[in-house]
Amino acid sequence: MGKILVLYYSKSGNTKKMAHLVADGAVEISGIEVRLKAINEADREDVLWCDGLALGSPTHLGTVAYEMKKFWEDKITDWQKLDGKIGCAFSSQGGWGGGGELTCLSLLTILMNFGFLVFGVTDYAGYQFTAHYGTTQAGEPREEKQKEACRRLGKRLAEWIAVCVDGRKELHPLCGNYKRNPWD
Ligand SMILES: Cc1cc2nc3c(=O)[nH]c(=O)nc-3n(C[C@H](O)[C@H](O)[C@H](O)COP(=O)(O)O)c2cc1C
Repeated sequence: MGKILVLYYSKSGNTKKMAHLVADGAVEISGIEVRLKAINEADREDVLWCDGLALGSPTHLGTVAYEMKKFWEDKITDWQKLDGKIGCAFSSQGGWGGGGELTCLSLLTILMNFGFLVFGVTDYAGYQFTAHYGTTQAGEPREEKQKEACRRLGKRLAEWIAVCVDGRKELHPLCGNYKRNPWD
């Protein structure tokens, strides 16, 4: 059974709300075990445990919050034990264009440093609303398309884990039978 960790830092609660929605999306795929943890509740065993990891941080000064970077610098010393796990990213920023995608790329860079395979989402969760480098929000997710972008990230991670870890090839996104775009 594939295992997913949704791991986040949130100073004022917005990234936490995203994390819950990402986890909701992951459990849409049956047979996948999902853990949701803030970094102050998590340790290296959680990271070693998972097959897939969705990593979330608020955008601070256009990049990842130092608390998140500290977690990886101080607690995770497991190079050559994490290779091949699958990772993705999400971030809440103060406003659109505030650097959320840069933060996602920084989160993905951290994961790549440990040998994770990282991905983006090509789907559109709503009109002109996608998550190519991970899911970003301005503040908390309020509109349905914002919530769906979070759920879709978690669901896509679960699909990749089902395909790549559990060998459930029918769950490949290109075989999916749900609407990937509003115009489908
Ligand atoms: C130290 C600090 C730096 C921030 N830098 C940015 C920034 O560069 N761009 C931006 O859009 N918002 C910035 N913000 C706003 C947060 O990204 C935003 O409020 C976010 O929703 C907070 O998420 P959280 O509730 O999970 O902590 C910053 C906030 C703090 C506290």
